[in-house]
Amino acid sequence: MGRKGFIVTIDGPSGAGKSTVAKLLARSLGYRYIDTGAMYRGVAVAYMRNGGRTPLDRLLEDLALTFEFDDGVRVFLHCEDISGQIRDPEVSLTASTLSQDGRVRNYLLKRQREIGKEGGVVLEGRDTGSVVFPDAEVKFYIDADLNERARRRHKETTAAQELDRVREDMAKRDKNDSERDLAPLTVPEGAIRVDTTGIGVDEVVAILKSHVEKAKEKWKS
Ligand code: DC
Repeated sequence: MGRKGFIVTIDGPSGAGKSTVAKLLARSLGYRYIDTGAMYRGVAVAYMRNGGRTPLDRLLEDLALTFEFDDGVRVFLHCEDISGQIRDPEVSLTASTLSQDGRVRNYLLKRQREIGKEGGVVLEGRDTGSVVFPDAEVKFYIDADLNERARRRHKETTAAQELDRVREDMAKRDKNDSERDLAPLTVPEGAIRVDTTGIGVDEVVAILKSHVEKAKEKWKS
């Protein structure tokens, strides 16, 4: 266990309710919530703004991207707050494409390990339990069926997008995320699987929390 507590990871496809659940779980444990997807999205905004002028390696080397994690996440590019922009639909697709690039993954892997190494964190993403912290004390994989995930994402998106379009984008991203060669979306070894279809947020958080509490008891004894 790290100095500040357990490392808890939550992986799963988009719209499975990871972010909401991770945020609430972190709050109830007194841990920091690390939204790794927001980190990929931050790189995507920097890449889109650069418009291909700088080779990716150089762009990553000089990237002035910073994050503030506490109850939510704030992302800054050259001190500009881009936390709103990272949720744009074009940014989602670019983030998904860039997340297949080993250079981007390595850059963020280092930063994620640095941020989480002392523990007291709930990391949420696609590979946080399989690659970033395979030795995390508690690993979850949460899922829900595609229709429900699309409905949830449609409700929370600020862009005027049709539900069908949201579902299509989501299916495309699921395919990208699970079929890519590098760190594909997968159930990490030893992860606890939770299907959130038809289950309310509070109930899911309670289920996850009970697993963490059990792990803490086991750790103490
Ligand atoms: O969770 P999200 O939709 O904000 O993630 C944005 C993209 O980043 C998503 O298409 C997959 C990628 N991602 C990843 O490859 N690994 C992570 N740990 C988190 C996100």
